[in-house]
Amino acid sequence: MVSIKKISKSLKYVGKQLFINNVDCENIIKIHKTPIYCYSLTEIIGNYNNFYKSLEKLNPLICYAVKANFNKEIIKILGKLGSGADVVSKGELKLALDSGISPNKIVFSGVGKTKEEIIYALKKKIFQINVESEEELEEINNLAVNKKTLVNISLRVNPDVDANTHKKITTGRSDDKFGIPISKVVEIFKRKNDYSNLKIDGIAIHIGSQITKIDPFKNAFEKIRKLILRLEKNKIHIKNLDLGGGIGINYFENQVISLKKYSSIIKKEFGRMNLKLIFEPGRSIVGSAGFIISKVIRVKKGLGKNFLILDVGMNDLMRPSLYESYHHIIPMKKLNRKKRNYDIVGPVCESSDIFGSNRDLNEVESGDYLVLCSAGAYGSCMSSNYNCRPLIKEIVVNDSDFFKS
Ligand code: LLP
Repeated sequence: MVSIKKISKSLKYVGKQLFINNVDCENIIKIHKTPIYCYSLTEIIGNYNNFYKSLEKLNPLICYAVKANFNKEIIKILGKLGSGADVVSKGELKLALDSGISPNKIVFSGVGKTKEEIIYALKKKIFQINVESEEELEEINNLAVNKKTLVNISLRVNPDVDANTHKKITTGRSDDKFGIPISKVVEIFKRKNDYSNLKIDGIAIHIGSQITKIDPFKNAFEKIRKLILRLEKNKIHIKNLDLGGGIGINYFENQVISLKKYSSIIKKEFGRMNLKLIFEPGRSIVGSAGFIISKVIRVKKGLGKNFLILDVGMNDLMRPSLYESYHHIIPMKKLNRKKRNYDIVGPVCESSDIFGSNRDLNEVESGDYLVLCSAGAYGSCMSSNYNCRPLIKEIVVNDSDFFKS
């Protein structure tokens, strides 16, 4: 079996029992029904602190990407650590504010902000809006004129870089819907005074998610550095540089980017530029810290396969069916049984409701519990009521305590 420490620092077997930090999973299911999402606060805090420390010398503003996991306890604890928030809807903006994040640490991203959302952001006086088109600039300016307010704007630049990640989560190629083509940016900055109520003095990029190699970041950052130098030649000095999120995590013994390397590239490209650097990490903060405990409803012998049918379905964790993502699945009780090969599936009426094919596990019986790992990012927040299944509960583990949240 894979070394679970590589998947999450919170998991360990004590004797036969699986623990999340100092909580025996058995104690969770004594109180709560499965399937259930569990998040380790300790691990989230550790991930945030590691990220922050690697960039500390640059005095960055970290804006946690709320879309990765909008559990309120998580946003609250990150806020207490000093994090701001990257939001993409009025709902996320409200939640961030309600969770104690101060408006001057909030950036509003997204390609399709509605009038109502823009007005709300203006009213709340957030730190900045990241704008993705000239049409949006026009609209925000008109609304800001109406409201007699000024607003900080960063232009989200599309650098035309392939992030080399899953095709559904790459966002920085010229044909992707995101951002303003890099070739148009200088010209827009030259006209920035046409927008009376916008303070356009920032640049933002986000080239994709679950990025596991440093080169796409390097290429994108080099292009942005050149763009900033070009702007300077035109006497345009920007103040804020938002470098987005995108750092991948270890789902399947895959390579991950060292934060040291990531930060050294940033220092090299932008360290001497006198810019406020902003980051929008999501997955790298919460991904490894989330788990789903699920019960085996039935073990079904097929013709050539054994199926483990779980009580968790694709509606609870969409990632495998949407992106063919891999999540380690481990037993909640490590028993000395013979190895067997299984396809591990959910109960939803779709063939894509599969959590793992050809997985070797010690023999599993109906009524046993399994734990799906690396489910902290883009798990619960993407779940649905498909098949009229209720949304599943979430608990937060804090060292040897756990509570519903
Ligand atoms: N900033 C912007 C503008 C974004 O669009 C995203 C993610 C982030 C930051 C955070 O990126 P992260 O650090 O989490 O990679 N549902 C997909 C991932 C979608 C990512 C969307 N944008 C998945 O489950 O893999």
